[in-house]
Amino acid sequence: MNVLILGSGGREHAFTRSIAASPILKQLYVAPGNAGTAKQATNIDISVTDFAAIKTKVLELDINLVVVGPEAPLVEGIYDFFQRDEQLADVSVIGPSQQGAVLEGSKEFAKKFMVRHNIPTAAYESFTKENLKAGMEFIDRLTPPYVLKADGLAGGKGVLIIDNAAEAKESLEAMLVGGKFGDASNKVVIEEFLDGIEMSVFVMTDGNSYKILPTAKDYKRIGEGDTGLNTGGMGAISPVPFADEDLMEKIENRIIKPTVAGLQQEKITYKGFIFIGLMIVSGEPYVIEYNVRMGDPETEVVLPRISSDLLEHLSAFAKAELHLQKLTIDDRSAATVMLVSGGYPEAYDKGAVITGIDEVKDSIMFHAGTAQKEDKIITAGGRVIAVTSYGSTYDEAVKKSYENIAKLHFDRMYYRTDIGFDL
Ligand code: AMP
Ligand code: GLY
Repeated sequence: MNVLILGSGGREHAFTRSIAASPILKQLYVAPGNAGTAKQATNIDISVTDFAAIKTKVLELDINLVVVGPEAPLVEGIYDFFQRDEQLADVSVIGPSQQGAVLEGSKEFAKKFMVRHNIPTAAYESFTKENLKAGMEFIDRLTPPYVLKADGLAGGKGVLIIDNAAEAKESLEAMLVGGKFGDASNKVVIEEFLDGIEMSVFVMTDGNSYKILPTAKDYKRIGEGDTGLNTGGMGAISPVPFADEDLMEKIENRIIKPTVAGLQQEKITYKGFIFIGLMIVSGEPYVIEYNVRMGDPETEVVLPRISSDLLEHLSAFAKAELHLQKLTIDDRSAATVMLVSGGYPEAYDKGAVITGIDEVKDSIMFHAGTAQKEDKIITAGGRVIAVTSYGSTYDEAVKKSYENIAKLHFDRMYYRTDIGFDL
């Protein structure tokens, strides 16, 4: 079968590597891809949200299956675009319908969905500028810290955690009235602060049955010890060592089952990945957020631990036959460390030459912001390369990534040296 992957990050390179290994693959394309995907597939220079251009390429290249990496095309309705088009209706799109993508596109929608299906989550209320005053009063009734979330997509920056009530009220006003996050903060969810440890579970569903993929934990802040600005993610490990059988059983029964059943009951078409961000409070799991795609860099540790044929699994979605597939997981741990451009997540330079790539033998390099320039690979984004390794423990895997990172270089290269520090 011919496959198109949409996206250009480390996540999409990880999909490329797994799918390229499938015996049922004929041709593999990535749009727009990066210098890493170009080595295992053919890059196509089109945007992930240019549906008309995607259609043209899908027909021209006889694509049978499209894996959607980032959320933007899903929130803009790529699944429905294919379904509605006579020429594209037979092409399998791995991702939810536009209605399903609202689980990520609107925090309030996600909270209401959880409440309807009795899925444990932090208590909350939502506010618009019309009831700003009620929002301020709600803050007065909560105990600090205060969690304020822009309802819409804000590039991972829309969540504020504030210790002081006066400051929280100021921020609420800035969001609702001052347009702090543009239209994304026309509505704000204020919720109870959950004090615990975070982890993520990933589920793939064909809308009928589901499979639980390996767990992962990511490190979002730029600085050591989880300090400084939020980033897309600076590293990840899998599996999460504290996610024992007992906790996984709670997560499956209280969260995964009601989520998949809730989608079915509400007739929300969903044939894709569900990324569930969790907070574990005294051994009890609560949902912090849903994402309607895989995580980045979590995918760079989750997919390398799947030893069965990912493309076989995905191709079973079309006929809702995922239940017939056998998912096998590699027992080893995996860790990834993200190399970023100096300055990221604020302003950074592009175009630095990356050296040492050919010297890395026992780690996997998933390219993110890289590009080919003549015979050189150069930086082309904030997050540049995710270096993934296996080990008998996460610690061993992390160490191996650091050993190999020592061989890599580009001007102003930065990475965190403490991935897994809190475990
Ligand atoms: P989100 O964008 O929803 O992933 O939120 C960003 C981060 O804010 C999460 O990864 C958590 O660390 C934190 N967070 C979100 N909601 C809560 C909450 N109710 N209690 C404590 N921390 C939270
Ligand atoms: N690493 C977090 C995310 O992909 O949303």
